[in-house]
Amino acid sequence: MGLSRRDVMKMSVLAGAAVALPLERSVSGSLAQANRIAESALPQPFTQPFTVPSVISPVRSDSTTDYYRVSMEPTQVELIPGLQTMMWGYNGQVPGPTFQTTQGRKAVVRQINNLPSRHPTLGYTPWTSVHLHGSASLPEYDGYASDITNPGQWKDYRYPNYQPARTLWYHDHGVHHTAENVYMGLAGFYLMHDPLEMKLAIPHGEYDVPLIVTDKMFNSDGSLLFDTNGGSGFYGDVITVNGRVWPTMKVKKRKYRFRILNGGPSRSYKWFLDNGASMTVIATDAGLMPKPQSVKSFRQGVAERYEVVIDFAKYAAGTKIRLLNDSPKNNINFTNTDKVMQFEVVGDAFSTAGNSIPGSLYPSQPTMALKTNQAVKKRTFDFIRQNGNWTVNGKTWDDVVASGFTSILADPQTDSVELWELRNPSGGWHHPAHIHFIDFKVVSRNGQPPLPHEQGAKDVIFLGENESVQLLMKFEKGRGKYMIHCHNLVHEDHDMMGQFEIKDPLRASEGPFDAPAIPLPEGDL
Ligand code: C2O
Ligand code: CU
Repeated sequence: MGLSRRDVMKMSVLAGAAVALPLERSVSGSLAQANRIAESALPQPFTQPFTVPSVISPVRSDSTTDYYRVSMEPTQVELIPGLQTMMWGYNGQVPGPTFQTTQGRKAVVRQINNLPSRHPTLGYTPWTSVHLHGSASLPEYDGYASDITNPGQWKDYRYPNYQPARTLWYHDHGVHHTAENVYMGLAGFYLMHDPLEMKLAIPHGEYDVPLIVTDKMFNSDGSLLFDTNGGSGFYGDVITVNGRVWPTMKVKKRKYRFRILNGGPSRSYKWFLDNGASMTVIATDAGLMPKPQSVKSFRQGVAERYEVVIDFAKYAAGTKIRLLNDSPKNNINFTNTDKVMQFEVVGDAFSTAGNSIPGSLYPSQPTMALKTNQAVKKRTFDFIRQNGNWTVNGKTWDDVVASGFTSILADPQTDSVELWELRNPSGGWHHPAHIHFIDFKVVSRNGQPPLPHEQGAKDVIFLGENESVQLLMKFEKGRGKYMIHCHNLVHEDHDMMGQFEIKDPLRASEGPFDAPAIPLPEGDL
């Protein structure tokens, strides 16, 4: 090996001085984008039909557990009418199939890496590690970045499903290639229900609609174009919702619940409706809020989930309402990246069940009930650029690797409560910061109360330019090593990721490598 990846990063940063410049700079000079498809060859916004990902069925079930089988494999999709785009999907689907699960029933998901041995244009080996984001999984089933499954290997992931109902998502977390792998399509929904959520008169079933928003960029032949803009992030010129380019969804004259997920890799959004109507946020990353919050707009970083109710009751059939994006600072924007999707109201008959927003949703939400004076420890995490790397407290994942996976940023005790302050001292970029295993309560943002849409339990926090947040969390039942990282996947890969270890004085820690991947047998598995 000649140059280390870190050296290459340093060089590209020096050569382009890219991250030192405002991101709104012209991108026309970028070599990687020379072959970008002409805007005129893209579909007009709001002309494509909307779709929701299909639901996966277990291959078998017993009294406690549902067993699933998923194959990661290439697939050709027609995102741009008339052109084929090669992507990678869970079961060949982009987005991956949706898991519908219930609290109290465990799941085992067999993930088989049937990807090619090399990425067709980028050339790297697509090893994978599947993370169920939002689950308090054991370390060896958490998608630990370096616990990789190579092409031709498989691994069973075990999920406990004991937490409150929530919108989870599963996505690739393979070390140093998470951004490319997720961009290629390796992401999907995993929805968990519980009795409280199921009996609330909020929209359910066909009126409970997951939306994964991702941006893409295409070469003129229809293949995906990937460019990290000198390490600042990937910013596509095309917005997709559930794998469709700027779609239009037909909606009936009632309330809908949308589970919005920013599927990355890097772009942040600030949503609003073009007619100025309010939206009601009912749930955050870790499930139902204590009470609903009505907002005209809100921002959402990569990996955050917000469940939002929009009421179409008062509109005449034929009315069109658009979900738009008033871009937060420091994204690279293009002609139509301010547009997301359109709703078209239809006069069809509908069920009136679950057509309300109760004033109280989950008043006893356990994370939101935490009090600052329960915290036994306060820690600070700085998300900073240092020596050409994205770091947490000056450390990178390469430092973790170099330590033989012993280096940790924090050592909270099992069942203890801690107050973590996360800071972004830069004005040039933002970071969506994610802490694995736990749910947290946002205590303050820049010394002020959290924003209305953040008043629910979360696991990703938007660290805007020069912002700091205080988060309260309980390391309930946990033990072992978990990651903390920026969820701008380009930052995460290069190399803004570290780990903490939850220590139980009575038991040895679980190891993240305790359930390694296994080579595929000849024939089928
Ligand atoms: Cu959504 Cu560490 O990941
Ligand atoms: Cu970041």
